Amino acid sequence: MTFQNQTAIVTGAGQGIGFGIAQSLCQQGARVLLNDLDSVLCDEAAERIRQDGGTCAGLAGDASDVAFTRQLVQTAVERFGGLDLLVANAGLTLFGDFFDYESVRFEQVMNLNLRGSFFLTQAAARHMREQGRGGSVLLMSSVVGHQAHPGLAAYAMTKAALEMLAKNLVIDLSPHGITINALAPGATQTERTLDDPTYVPIWSRITPMGRPSTVADMTHAALFLLHPNSRHITGQSLVVDGGWTSVSPPPVA
Ligand SMILES: NC(=O)c1ccc[n+]([C@@H]2O[C@H](COP(=O)([O-])OP(=O)(O)OC[C@H]3O[C@@H](n4cnc5c(N)ncnc54)[C@H](O)[C@@H]3O)[C@@H](O)[C@H]2O)c1
Repeated sequence: MTFQNQTAIVTGAGQGIGFGIAQSLCQQGARVLLNDLDSVLCDEAAERIRQDGGTCAGLAGDASDVAFTRQLVQTAVERFGGLDLLVANAGLTLFGDFFDYESVRFEQVMNLNLRGSFFLTQAAARHMREQGRGGSVLLMSSVVGHQAHPGLAAYAMTKAALEMLAKNLVIDLSPHGITINALAPGATQTERTLDDPTYVPIWSRITPMGRPSTVADMTHAALFLLHPNSRHITGQSLVVDGGWTSVSPPPVA
């Protein structure tokens, strides 16, 4: 029960990687405020964790909305008596050809991935500073913050920027005992890609470790970075991608 008596917020956690992290934190004793934009997914996910014996509440809402990010922190504190861990997981992946990419799509991606993560971290860190017992923040990056990917220029910018945010905030957060790191998942099979019959064969072929990433791979890495024994790790980005970003296309005919 590594996270006993700790309170966490996990955004975008109705399914996918966020759900996996929220579920594992609860299994290890944390009390989790689980967020999703989709209120049905949010309620069902929180209920699923409670049925497994976890302490979890859902708060549906838009994690790109600054006022809502403050409400998330306030709710976690009121409901569970404090805040120790933040996983700013919610992120939007909007593919599109660069030459036709519309500003409305660009703004949607920036608003959630950057504005939402920045101000949620600010609200959480303000509370952790006042609370005076440290804390840990995890930002959700991506391999495409490291390596170019077709159709994802806007998204890739945001993920690279989040990794710089983790580095930069070391200055502000370390004096308060708060760590901040980023996790950069490789292609991870979630509900979003389960119905795509090409996903596993393609990613298995181009990933050195021979398969796409799983939610369990990400959960394991996230809990490592949030673990109390990892409190000297801060400002770092951890790539979990089965080696995909380590190699460039080989010179084969
Ligand atoms: N799945 C992957 O292959 C992969 C790879 C690299 C990085 N990531 C990153 O990991 C994170 C989670 O990705 P995923 O694929 O597990 O999740 P996902 O994209 O399937 O979304 C998870 C949940 O986020 C919710 N959501 C969407 N907009 C929201 C908003 N404005 N506020 C609150 N919730 C919102 C959705 O309703 C959904 O239930 C994202 O930041 C994503 O960029 C994912």
